[in-house]
Amino acid sequence: MYSLLKPFIFKIDPEMAHDLAIKSLKYNFLPEDIFKVQEEEILETKIFDTKIKNPIGLAAGFDKSAEVYNSLFRFGFGFIEIGTVTPREQYGNPKPRVFRLENDRALINRLGFNNDGIEKVSQRLQKNTPSGFLGINIGPNKDSENRTDDYLKCIKEINTFANYITINISSPNTPGLRDFHDHSTLRNLLKDITDFTKKNNIHKPLALKVSPDIAGSEIGSIIDSIKRFKISAIIISNTTDKNRENLIGTHKSEKGGLSGEPLSKISNDLIKKFYRETKGDIIIIGVGGISSGLAAYEKLKSGANLLQLYTGMVYEGPGIVKKIKGELIDILKKEKIKNVSEIVGTGS
Ligand SMILES: Cc1cc2nc3c(=O)[nH]c(=O)nc-3n(C[C@H](O)[C@H](O)[C@H](O)COP(=O)(O)O)c2cc1C
Repeated sequence: MYSLLKPFIFKIDPEMAHDLAIKSLKYNFLPEDIFKVQEEEILETKIFDTKIKNPIGLAAGFDKSAEVYNSLFRFGFGFIEIGTVTPREQYGNPKPRVFRLENDRALINRLGFNNDGIEKVSQRLQKNTPSGFLGINIGPNKDSENRTDDYLKCIKEINTFANYITINISSPNTPGLRDFHDHSTLRNLLKDITDFTKKNNIHKPLALKVSPDIAGSEIGSIIDSIKRFKISAIIISNTTDKNRENLIGTHKSEKGGLSGEPLSKISNDLIKKFYRETKGDIIIIGVGGISSGLAAYEKLKSGANLLQLYTGMVYEGPGIVKKIKGELIDILKKEKIKNVSEIVGTGS
């Protein structure tokens, strides 16, 4: 069905198409059964000690303001991450700010954390209990005078609704945000966050979402900070502002973050490096260019315990979750693997 609609959808501006998708998802009456796959037990896994049906999650950025997460669960995702949410509502950068690179199966976006703000998001979560495992991705407002305080405000407001909270330090579209990767800046941020959660008796798992553009020399210090402050997971990775040379799309020089297939190898290589240094001590959520069972398999083998995707769904529609699950099950069965978790890190 999506392949019939796609030529029309792709004639519309990408952000407008996304807004239409959100509107229509508010009335998602598609029967859940059409997204089911056979023998999904082989994909059953754990996220922070909770069993989930499969390791395929929806990445942050699709449901930024918590409008349609329960409709999205019906597509068969094992977990969903909403956000990035900031304390105050924010418009983001001037439009146009999302670009399709169809022949590269990629997107470039410079949205700049457009969202409805933490208060509205928590009201929505209060009214509409999430039907599955839900992460909430948080970040600072662009014009904030104290970005650390912004993370704390968000944690305070939404922690009761979240199964985990993602500290996003890696969007290329909020100037200076990526400076939090710096050793002492990251340590200070994570110290302030964990002091705050302890003081306020907040016990939700925390994840840190990192940039794919970090230097190899930064990996050790990031792992050091994550371990010191008992961050439960690392999400690898956000979009890249590099890697434009080999693209063919006319929009390849647009400023912003590149996602989709050209990000796949970059994020896999980084996952491997983190896995080799942590040897499974830290949960890795692998993101970047997943649109097939094989791509999911490669990320798991690189060291990811769990997966997320966004751009793949733009190109293939909501049926992508079922497709990936079916293909991954076939690969695992061919390899005589009994459960998906057995392959994590075996190719790193
Ligand atoms: C249009 C768009 C908006 C995004 N917004 C966010 C965001 O608000 N917060 C975030 O952490 N990541 C955001 N991302 C990054 C994705 O979560 C993901 O890390 C990245 O796109 C790589 O995965 P993919 O290749 O499957 O899309 C966004 C990506 C896209 C394409």
